[in-house]
Amino acid sequence: DWTMEAFVDKEIARIRKLVGEEGQVLGAVSGGVDSTVAAKLMHEAIGDRFHAVMVDNGVMRQDEAKQVKETLTKGLGVNLTVVDASERFLGLLKGVSDPEKKRKIIGNTFIEIFEEEAKKIAKEAENSPRAGPINFFLQGTLYPDVIESISFKGPSQTIKTHHNVGGLPEKMNLKLIEPLRELFKDEVRAMGTNLGIPSDLVWRHPFPGPGIAIRIIGEVTPDKVRIVQEADKIFIEEIRNAGLYRDISQAFAALMDGKSVGVVGDQRLHGHIIALRAVVTTDFMTANYYRFDYDFMDKVINRIGNEVHGVARVLYEMTSKPPSTIEFE
Ligand code: XMP
Repeated sequence: DWTMEAFVDKEIARIRKLVGEEGQVLGAVSGGVDSTVAAKLMHEAIGDRFHAVMVDNGVMRQDEAKQVKETLTKGLGVNLTVVDASERFLGLLKGVSDPEKKRKIIGNTFIEIFEEEAKKIAKEAENSPRAGPINFFLQGTLYPDVIESISFKGPSQTIKTHHNVGGLPEKMNLKLIEPLRELFKDEVRAMGTNLGIPSDLVWRHPFPGPGIAIRIIGEVTPDKVRIVQEADKIFIEEIRNAGLYRDISQAFAALMDGKSVGVVGDQRLHGHIIALRAVVTTDFMTANYYRFDYDFMDKVINRIGNEVHGVARVLYEMTSKPPSTIEFE
């Protein structure tokens, strides 16, 4: 009989055999469920010979980098390095409003920073007395990614650039290790639960690699990032309080381009426009907007208006996919 427990044991044994007694593994974590489960599995298999790196790009959710660090290190014992590169990313994003340019800047800068860190870790690894050099690179590829890549784009190494630290494995002469490649998303969640990963993280909504940068239409500035983070936090908090988090596939706040007029006290305020989006979907290829009741909307919108400085107007997006995409850019 197939059980998750037996599968985890088998995977751990397979990883140990593959990596060897002295081998070391490098991997990127984002705070999402796939990379966290993969990291925890590696840690169970080879302990501190697995090196996780997280790059804080300054466009993550509010306090997310801090929370991921807490959970992975204190909670799960993973050997993690966090690189705070917020200022570098925000500096490079200054003045850029084209969405694909934003994606490229974030993707390329991520690779640069990850490579710098990887070199440092590799150097330290060479000097460690009880282990050999780093010889593997962890990738949290799931079964649907494998299928997609076989049918459309060749071997799984070339798929979805955001799953992939662009060519680093080849450059550093590392072999790929993909412990989740036989699993579907629901099985990854079951594995995460089995490995003792907190349920908040196991059920976390997906979050795009370019983060809040593609949820701010037009130029990204630190103040706009703050506004989106604060509004998003309120929205998600209320969704959780209402017990709706798992009924919704993805929910977030975004910022429209331009300003609008509002009132604060007896003053007219020229402020930002927040749009809230919540969708239900199974495959993210099509999606329906979520039907909140009006009392829920009142509460969220009042809170954002009162608590987030600089917001003049809050909208709720009721377009499904198609014709809209899930993200705003
Ligand atoms: P769209 O907006 O195309 O999104 O309906 C479908 C799913 O993909 C995510 N998404 C991205 N994820 N990098 C990512 O890692 C990206 O550039 C990106 N663009 C969209 C989106 O959050 C949704 O889950």
